[in-house]
Amino acid sequence: MTAAADYLQEKLGAFSPRYGIVLGSGLGALVEAVAEPIRIPYRDIPDFPVSSVSGHAGELVAGKLGDEPVVMLSGRVHYYERGDANAMRVPLETLKRIGVESLIVTNSAGSLREDMPPGSVMRIADHIAFSGSNPLIGVESDNRFVGMTNAYDAALSERMEEAADRLSIPLWRGVYMWFSGPSFETPAEIRMARIVGADAVGMSTVPEVILARFFGLRVAAASVITNFGAGMTGAELSHEETKEMAPLGGERLAAILREMIASEG
Ligand code: HPA
Repeated sequence: MTAAADYLQEKLGAFSPRYGIVLGSGLGALVEAVAEPIRIPYRDIPDFPVSSVSGHAGELVAGKLGDEPVVMLSGRVHYYERGDANAMRVPLETLKRIGVESLIVTNSAGSLREDMPPGSVMRIADHIAFSGSNPLIGVESDNRFVGMTNAYDAALSERMEEAADRLSIPLWRGVYMWFSGPSFETPAEIRMARIVGADAVGMSTVPEVILARFFGLRVAAASVITNFGAGMTGAELSHEETKEMAPLGGERLAAILREMIASEG
């Protein structure tokens, strides 16, 4: 695993990012905002996983947002690709090793709230892991017992909200529920998710947040809403719809994150 960190350190030289950002599909707008980008395909980085999902780029982008050096993971590997909740372990551990302190995780998600339509952006305030899996299964030390009470960092979350306020972009706040996918939920599962207190559903992020906390990274996360949950409208769900709708909220979320990070100082 140190091979990946060694490779990046050689490529990036003295560049030392404090922020890492995991970009879900449709969030390319944030990559465009990076000044002097260095783009490195995952396939060139030792031990990095390559996603098989259309719409997921699979490259690491290092550069600056304002004066702040950042590194972005543009594209992720999902649990449902191989049934491996640990799929993002090497990229996240590598970020930690090259000096990242704070991780911002983004995704696209289905809304469970009638008043939060597609195009909305929701800060993830907490989550429900519903896949039955966990990336730390198999870790053989007491470090595996990671506390999740403060998984989403209060200070980072506040900065995200302040950035949204400054830009007058509405930012929802809610609970994200992780389903394994890759099939979408049934209407009955969506009714259940609403009853147990979720505001959005999706197929990613939660294992990454658990891994990030395991590695001692501070975490904030946000969803762009691409659709209402199954059964909330008459429509069938599709990956095409997710890809088509993600850029709408994606532009808003990119603006918020840029404001949040570039205004740091
Ligand atoms: N369910 C699960 N994952 C998703 C959805 C959804 O409705 N929309 C985008 N990702």
